[in-house]
Amino acid sequence: MESARQWIYSLLFFIFTIATLHVLDTLIISTRLTTNYQNIKLKKHPHLPLRFRSDGTFKILQVADMHYGNGMVTRCRDVLESEFNYCTDLNTTHFLRKMIQIEKPDLIVFTGDNIFGTSATDAAESLFEVFAPAIESGIPWAAVLGNHDQESTMNREELMSFISLMDYSVSQTFPSTKVNSDSKEQQPMTNIDGFGNYNLEVWGAPGSYLSNSSILNLYFLDSGDRAIVHGVRTYNWIRESQLSWLRGVSKRFQGQWKYDDQSMDISPLPVMHPALAFFHIPIPEIRQGPIKDIVGTYREYVACSSINSGVLKTFISMGDVKAVFIGHDHTNDFCGNLEGIWFCYGGGFGYHGYGVAGWPRRARVIQGELGKGKEAWMGVGKIRTWKRLDDGVLTKFDEQVLWDIHSLR
Ligand SMILES: *[C@@H]1O[C@H](CO)[C@@H](O)[C@H](O)[C@H]1NC(C)=O
Ligand SMILES: *[C@@H]1O[C@H](CO)[C@@H](O)[C@H](O)[C@H]1NC(C)=O
Repeated sequence: MESARQWIYSLLFFIFTIATLHVLDTLIISTRLTTNYQNIKLKKHPHLPLRFRSDGTFKILQVADMHYGNGMVTRCRDVLESEFNYCTDLNTTHFLRKMIQIEKPDLIVFTGDNIFGTSATDAAESLFEVFAPAIESGIPWAAVLGNHDQESTMNREELMSFISLMDYSVSQTFPSTKVNSDSKEQQPMTNIDGFGNYNLEVWGAPGSYLSNSSILNLYFLDSGDRAIVHGVRTYNWIRESQLSWLRGVSKRFQGQWKYDDQSMDISPLPVMHPALAFFHIPIPEIRQGPIKDIVGTYREYVACSSINSGVLKTFISMGDVKAVFIGHDHTNDFCGNLEGIWFCYGGGFGYHGYGVAGWPRRARVIQGELGKGKEAWMGVGKIRTWKRLDDGVLTKFDEQVLWDIHSLR
């Protein structure tokens, strides 16, 4: 009798367990595991191509070294004692929102160490948080990696593919090349060192005769993380495969223009349209110098690779790169000139990155300005830059012209 009763209880318990599992599965688990037509989320694309506004300007906000961790629970480094208790990654987020609001850039460029891997428990979560203000704004944004981004749960390739799939991102893991010379179809070029080498075109102002062509080229390069050379730890460097790709892209743009200029017979045009480059780790020449005409603060040793792979030489021979924007050394924020090419630091942006207490976090703005022809806008005439401080009123300072087509002759 007893055993029959026990058996019935066991059976009832078994049925109850199965029923509970079934309810859990249908109500909670399976809806999370399966996607249905409504749940598929497509990437939101910005309106492309990038182009100058009808007022003749194109503005880029450079954000260097956000060093984002886990958001609200990640404390600030190197702030005043009085600031420490109320300072987290959210201050970095707030600063970015304010910069976007005041400058209304046409493109936001993140030059690496966007997340500080060792403080980021889940790389994907941190990426969503760090880029949130850019995504909310709907402004196209581009990122490269620093030496710390991959220290969390994703490697460099995973990071770049994730970043390139985020809303309004114009970042790419690999450069695009044409499938063949007379095809419009593009494919990723994967036989290149690093992840996050790509270029973006900025087209002329609407209604101008340059409205359908790239007149400002933006190059993005992966400067890697760390390396060991002859048993000694150093930073990585930009490799020959990347430089060779760069030379090819630059040549293609310039070839296109020499031809167009002749055929259109418009005389005071520059044959060569300018380009800007963005990457994370400085090149050795910045340390070795002499770097000239410094505007801004040079307060720390330049942390670069012990290997000189000829980046400056390549830029000089290409001829189109007028200014290069880097990060990595948070307490340097200067622009200096090396053999006619400007190298500018963004200055540390993020509160979880090292800095100097009482020396506000900062950001750089870069503006291309078109030359004015008799009736319409011409090609790029000037490249200007300035910075702003996160000091409560976003003080603007160190404004300078990096390139002026009229001072070339
Ligand atoms: C960080 O943000 C909090 C809250 O808005 C603010 O009270 C604090 O002053 C900020 N700290 C710094 C260093 O900007
Ligand atoms: C640019 O392209 C558009 C659309 O294809 C065309 O209507 C326009 O005439 C072009 N403008 C110039 C200046 O080539």
